[in-house]
Amino acid sequence: MGLAKVLRAASGLTDRHFNVLRAVERSSVRGKLARVESVARAVKLSEGYVEKLLGDLHDASLVWSPMGRRSGYLLTYAGLDALALGVMLRRGIIASVGGEIGVGKESDVYVADTPEGERVSLKLYRAGRVSMTKYRRTRDVPSELGSYLAASTRFAANEVHALRILSGAGLPVPLPVYRNRHAVVAQLIDGRMLVKARSLPRSPEIILEELLRAVRDAYLAGVIHRDLSAYNVLIDSEGRPWIIDWPQWVSRDHPNGLFYFRRDVSNLVDFFARRYHVEIPPSLVEEFLKSVTQA
Ligand SMILES: Nc1ncnc2c1ncn2[C@@H]1O[C@H](COP(=O)(O)OP(=O)(O)OP(=O)(O)O)[C@@H](O)[C@H]1O
Ligand SMILES: [Mg+2]
Repeated sequence: MGLAKVLRAASGLTDRHFNVLRAVERSSVRGKLARVESVARAVKLSEGYVEKLLGDLHDASLVWSPMGRRSGYLLTYAGLDALALGVMLRRGIIASVGGEIGVGKESDVYVADTPEGERVSLKLYRAGRVSMTKYRRTRDVPSELGSYLAASTRFAANEVHALRILSGAGLPVPLPVYRNRHAVVAQLIDGRMLVKARSLPRSPEIILEELLRAVRDAYLAGVIHRDLSAYNVLIDSEGRPWIIDWPQWVSRDHPNGLFYFRRDVSNLVDFFARRYHVEIPPSLVEEFLKSVTQA
């Protein structure tokens, strides 16, 4: 379902709908179906009324009942989106959402507008989306869903944590604006993925040099990206590189930190050698790695 539709659904919900949706969320993250009786107790409304509210949420695809309505309800990703967007709307973080700018395996990225008319990025994590569509037995869904919802929120929190540290250190990463649940609002970078850039506004040598400096400074700030590649670098119109997509970062104290750091650096160096014939002697790369990690 499109996010604009979710946003419309979220803006049309009453506080009672939100309370019911939150009660379903609390069960879902624990891997349990939410039955009408227990939701009614939680929100202190009659079962008949809660049944009607759940019917509205079901019609808007914010909850579903994999084993029939009697057995209870689970949250959908659209429902999780509605909860997060509902908070962001109420707090004036965003006013509307626009088009999709990126679809990954486990996240969707949109442009959004703030009430002040500024454009920002909105990333919504969808952990388990790939495997959830493949599940066989419906009775396995609740517990899997619970861990996926929790994982999505964890990824979002991890990413914002890294972005705070790195933007605080002045590194070229999107400035984080706000997070709720699995949703991250950040600075919108006006750029193209390095891997898709047809021509670069500046020399590839300088761009690689800036990237390596950023990767070094991130390491010195304690952060290793761990999934660095030309897919996670955006090049803006002035040819400046920005590093995005940080949910899987590890601290430099991680037992495999050196391995991950080396791999991130190699991915960049190899890409520039392959695509732009920027040849850096292996001994120089080794020297760089040593100078950074033994600093
Ligand atoms: N702050 C941003 N500004 C501009 N565009 C962005 C921003 N964040 C993400 N994007 C766009 O969305 C795409 C996907 O974002 P990102 O790399 O963060 O997640 P992902 O690759 O989808 O995650 P996954 O690893 O789950 O597939 C990027 O390639 C980029 O085009
Ligand atoms: Mg990515």
